[in-house]
Amino acid sequence: MTVSSAPGKVYLFGEHAVVYGEPAVPCAIERRATVTVDARTDDHIRVEARDLSLDGFTVEYAGDTDYRPDVDVPEGLVDAAVGYIDAAVEQARDAADAPDAGFDITVESEIPLGAGLGSSAAVVVAGIDAATRELGVELDPESLAEHAYRAEFDVQDGQASRADTFCSAMGGAVRVEGDDCRRIDAPNLPFVVGFDGGAGDTGELVAGVRSLREEYDFAADTVESIGDIVRAGESLLADADPDAEPTDDLLVELGRLMDFDHGLLEALGVSSRTLDNMVWAARDAGAHGAKLTGAGGGGCIVALDETPETRTALRYTAECRDAFRAELDREGVRVEASGTDATPAGSTNTEAE
Ligand code: MEV
Repeated sequence: MTVSSAPGKVYLFGEHAVVYGEPAVPCAIERRATVTVDARTDDHIRVEARDLSLDGFTVEYAGDTDYRPDVDVPEGLVDAAVGYIDAAVEQARDAADAPDAGFDITVESEIPLGAGLGSSAAVVVAGIDAATRELGVELDPESLAEHAYRAEFDVQDGQASRADTFCSAMGGAVRVEGDDCRRIDAPNLPFVVGFDGGAGDTGELVAGVRSLREEYDFAADTVESIGDIVRAGESLLADADPDAEPTDDLLVELGRLMDFDHGLLEALGVSSRTLDNMVWAARDAGAHGAKLTGAGGGGCIVALDETPETRTALRYTAECRDAFRAELDREGVRVEASGTDATPAGSTNTEAE
């Protein structure tokens, strides 16, 4: 048995534009998905999921992971959850050169599904890490991020950037521009997250931005302007002391850029009334800035506020289901536990990467 966990994230800046080669700065937060994997002696996959969005389900299937089980939970949720797990299993089998490996997989997550906090990336990263370790293969975080990206890319029909998966594998603040992914220094910013209880469809939202961008030059310019915001934000971070509390000036300037970024995302059609209402509640409460995080359409906003005011205001906002402070998590994927009480099936037990 191997248990691995990986963090979720918020986007300080740059979601959507990162899909078109602009830079983005996601930051890992201290909310994790934990995946327990037991290698089986046959090629079956058994998945048990407990999550904030899923009341819990268990499915078992064999061989062809395209098979969809007949279970009594909404099909969309099963498809979303099982789709990412299937893709993670395929990547783990590929990385360990063990095409017939079967697994019992349990997913427990503190990250709501499809809400902009990188739940799927965290599940995929932790799942590949635990499954490959079960097969005797230890991937370094960069290789793990690469396999996790391929998994997301497959599930999202080629419309995924490396941002979510790289951030979850590495932890901390990262900068992603096309294939160039790196960790960057950043102070522990006072993130406050508001969650409307909903979720967006990443594939649909990304496709919507793509068609706007193809139809209108001004939409393409808007995507480029988000890239300009990211560049301005990262130079602010580069000048800041990562080990000190962020200064007021830094928070004010980052907040202004976050507000601008939200406005552009709104113009690209990926915000929603609930997200906008939470953004305005945060600003009215004195947050330095607030924006949606992730694909949008519903889910979460992130605000910057070192005081308790924004969190309190969000908790009294009708559209807000939950509001919490999110500390920067400087640790990416990690092994929580491991044991030798299962025999890997079909493993060649080689260091395949
Ligand atoms: C989704 O968390 C972030 C998007 O930029 C898509 C991606 O980067 O793959 C909308």
